[in-house]
Amino acid sequence: MRVDAYDKVTGKALYGADRVLPGMAFAALALAKIGRGRVSGVDTSAALAVPGVLLVETKFDLASPGFLMGGGFGFQSLQPMTDDHIAYRGQPIAIVVAETPVAATEAAEAITAEYEEEPFALHLDSEGATTLVQEEAIPLPFLADIKVGDADAVIDSCAVRIEETFEHPPQHAVPMELNGGVVWWQDDRLIVHEGTQNANAVRFGLAQQLGIDAELIEVHSPYVGGGFGQKNSLLVHIGPLAVVSRRLGRPVKLVLARTQTFHNGSFRPATKHRIRLGADATGRILAAVHEVDQQTSRHDLFIAGHTEVTSRLYGFSAFRGRQRLVQTDVQTPGYMRAPFESPSMFAFEQAVDELAHTVGRDPVQLRLDNDTETDPVTGLPFSSRHVGDCLRRGAELFGWSGRNPEPGSMRAEDGSLVGWGVAIGNYPGSIVAANATLTASADGRVTVAVDGHEMGQGIRSTVALLVARDLGIPVADVTVQVGDTTVGTQHLTAGSWGTATALPAVHSGLQELRKHLNVADTGDVDVASAVADAGHAVQVSVGSLGPGQTADALAQTNTGHLAISGPVFPGFVTFSWIAHFVEVHVEPTTCRIRVPRVVSVADCGRVASPVTAASQVRGGVIWGIGAALREESMVDDRVGGFLNTTLEEYPVMVNADVHRIDVDFIDKPDYQFNPVGVKGLGEVSMVGAAAAVANAVHHATGRRHHRLPIRIEHVL
Ligand code: MOS
Repeated sequence: MRVDAYDKVTGKALYGADRVLPGMAFAALALAKIGRGRVSGVDTSAALAVPGVLLVETKFDLASPGFLMGGGFGFQSLQPMTDDHIAYRGQPIAIVVAETPVAATEAAEAITAEYEEEPFALHLDSEGATTLVQEEAIPLPFLADIKVGDADAVIDSCAVRIEETFEHPPQHAVPMELNGGVVWWQDDRLIVHEGTQNANAVRFGLAQQLGIDAELIEVHSPYVGGGFGQKNSLLVHIGPLAVVSRRLGRPVKLVLARTQTFHNGSFRPATKHRIRLGADATGRILAAVHEVDQQTSRHDLFIAGHTEVTSRLYGFSAFRGRQRLVQTDVQTPGYMRAPFESPSMFAFEQAVDELAHTVGRDPVQLRLDNDTETDPVTGLPFSSRHVGDCLRRGAELFGWSGRNPEPGSMRAEDGSLVGWGVAIGNYPGSIVAANATLTASADGRVTVAVDGHEMGQGIRSTVALLVARDLGIPVADVTVQVGDTTVGTQHLTAGSWGTATALPAVHSGLQELRKHLNVADTGDVDVASAVADAGHAVQVSVGSLGPGQTADALAQTNTGHLAISGPVFPGFVTFSWIAHFVEVHVEPTTCRIRVPRVVSVADCGRVASPVTAASQVRGGVIWGIGAALREESMVDDRVGGFLNTTLEEYPVMVNADVHRIDVDFIDKPDYQFNPVGVKGLGEVSMVGAAAAVANAVHHATGRRHHRLPIRIEHVL
């Protein structure tokens, strides 16, 4: 059940840029056409001559919003159009406002500029790219390289050694909803409607950029048409939009063109992974090394979190991680669904598959034999880890026992080579400090305002179900408000902490509400009569913390900053887990790869909302298939920036690419993590899916692929 399904399919749900206001004008951006350098002059005369053009601006007096991961609010620290420096192709150099979107676009395209060009670097191994050791460049304890024992020495002494290097290309999330919104001023009050996963950062970031009090800014993002991380912070168009709206005294709408979103929003950076495994003859993994180089921009260090997951995957006695950042001439990369975990697992779980192949063990059994109840990094217990159950149930549902282990040995009726592959995945369990306000009214309805954003994952349904079940009232009597800074703080919704954050906050709000309604701690409640007895509508507000967090964390949330806890908590460590089983068919003459079926079994603690949970896993698997076989943001070595910036040339998965995906859950609550027993799901869904496809391709063809995506020409 999805409580907002009707509103969405009937168009009643308004997304960021859907609002139409009287007197509204339309903006468009002109972008830099060089890879790096300086803009020495912008010619706006042709743009100003376009009928209907109201304003063309090339310079703004805006402060940097700061980089989200450096304590700021922006997807990058660099605010375009504040000086003549061009850091990357596609950086905005002018904004046009006109009476119609057509006039604005035409005028923006008529803008020309003169540049002084400088050489640029776009690849991890480009001349001029600068490589930094992350733990030295950002000396924070949680970014220190993970080292347990002497992994290299253990591996060197092992009977079986695997050493492989894998490359993962840059990717863009290309959510269906384009970046953009509508802003206007009511006297000194700035009102922003923008599709964002972090209304709080938009609010406080704009306050910093404009030099005004955050109290004067309200941000509304009740629905997001797909975020996937690209909308998790203040984007570069909003500050200039606020300025031109004030100047004109009119509401202004800006929607970026699809091609523009490839340079004006974050992307998944390129990575290179070197994996070393040392095992005994039975395939018991004794030690592992995971070295990662990850792309970042010149102006920000986008932190790498790859080894956080791989170091927990199996019961290693020794592990060594090393993460380096490579500065290149791009906008700052960022989070894209399972940002580190999916590329890491593509590399690590292929190496594990290679180990199984080398020692002649079944890849499911080998993984079960390397399972652990104890976190190898901290020595603490996992609050829950049912990845063994995921593997066993998945194998059963898939029919894994019918697999012939010999690569190239299985054929489909049409002669296609058949490959069956498996991989597991994990994702850190996090909870952020959050606020919830619950109101019981005389008509028996309950309204819940809680930190969170609805971006398709179904947070309204999940919250409404919890409240309805707790109080014994119909789901239809619960209203859930998210993504709106006028009703709550609206901390960043990302990192798969949405459910594990909102539900415990609402859970504690419900306990408080029961007290104020003067009803029992549990059991059904007649809300209308309890409110009548109280004599007035009853409202409670609670602040909720992750395990081990202190009140400082709420203060962080309340001032627009991040307040994340996990995956290491006092006394335990939390991850979500998944196992993917994939069948591929490789057509023998064209080598076209199809994925006729996938079985995925997840351990996300208690399943809070069965319909939306299954949908999340399907989505994650589809992303994994896309990563394995299609998606790559190619860079343009001649002129800089990204090359394939359309949906024609950046092929996301469509119906013809996706066939049967069966989803199941272990559904065991994790009450140590939080009182509702829920863990994250949105991102773990994708982790390991690309690896399982690649492992299936290996099983079908006997060929191991070290670079994604695996295209026909690589298989031929
Ligand atoms: Mo997500 S990539 O944590 O917004």
